[in-house]
Amino acid sequence: MKIAVAAASGELGRLVMAELLNRMPAGDLVAVVRSPDKVADLAARGVEVRRGDYSEPASLDGALEGIDRLLLISSSEVGIRVAQHGNVVDAAKRAGVSLIAYTSLLHADTSPMGHAPEHFATEELIRASGLPYAMLRHTYYMENYTGRIPAALESGVLLGSAGDGRISAATRADLALAAAIVLTGEASGNSVYELAGDECFTLSEFAAELGRQTGREIIYRNIPEADYAAALEAAGLPTFLAEMLAESDAGMAEDGLFDDSHQLSTLIGRPTTGMVESVEKFLSL
Ligand SMILES: NC(=O)c1ccc[n+]([C@@H]2O[C@H](COP(=O)([O-])OP(=O)(O)OC[C@H]3O[C@@H](n4cnc5c(N)ncnc54)[C@H](OP(=O)(O)O)[C@@H]3O)[C@@H](O)[C@H]2O)c1
Repeated sequence: MKIAVAAASGELGRLVMAELLNRMPAGDLVAVVRSPDKVADLAARGVEVRRGDYSEPASLDGALEGIDRLLLISSSEVGIRVAQHGNVVDAAKRAGVSLIAYTSLLHADTSPMGHAPEHFATEELIRASGLPYAMLRHTYYMENYTGRIPAALESGVLLGSAGDGRISAATRADLALAAAIVLTGEASGNSVYELAGDECFTLSEFAAELGRQTGREIIYRNIPEADYAAALEAAGLPTFLAEMLAESDAGMAEDGLFDDSHQLSTLIGRPTTGMVESVEKFLSL
């Protein structure tokens, strides 16, 4: 069985490839990337590297030839992703893959998060293709929150617009393990997995835990979405990214990333990596 991971050069893709390499011969794995040079290390381990750009349909036919199962990792090019993903789905259909797994968004059909429509539209394209599918609906990565630690430590303030929203984040590593398990598991018909951490936290709780672990006073200051976007922009982020991050916080305030179904821990067979452990790990680096 040949398994391909599309966007294997990204942070999640690399972790999925590592999990797959623990389970399968490298020769049965294909890394689909737009810049093969970026994954020379995978080629050196025996993984077949094929060039495939989500924006170039012709490149995707060659990339997916002979593939049985495909992980379509969502593109990072927000705004044009539905068309890009549609190109991959069309090529997967032409290639006759027996499973397409897609990294969607938690509760994509009902989510208040700004990214939800792009993910749900992609899910709809996959359903319309008639290909057997697994929707891997991802919560936000824990790394999105630990990434906020340096600024919080510098100022003593964790800024955000997420209010008291409950956030069931999960590490990329746990989500990558889940993807590898689905890709290598028994065929189980069409499935939708809501993949989130076992425990949730608010940004106030995150700030308090950071304070506890560093012995410093770190407070969470909730501000309106527009003010948070302006603060991120003032800190040097491009306008579109600042607005996107602030919009995400506003979605979190509506519990957009809350889930208590424990489907991720059920799938990976152990509790998910929690916020306390993730903060500890970040501070130890
Ligand atoms: N759940 C979350 O919290 C969260 C957070 C951030 C992102 N995401 C989504 O999850 C995806 C994976 O996350 P990540 O952390 O691995 O992101 P990442 O490290 O930024 O990787 C993005 C991947 O997408 C590839 N890509 C972008 N445009 C492409 C195109 N036109 N054709 C082929 N590949 C293309 C990139 O290829 P290159 O290496 O060539 O650039 C890279 O491999 C992201 O792309 C994004 O959709 C989710």
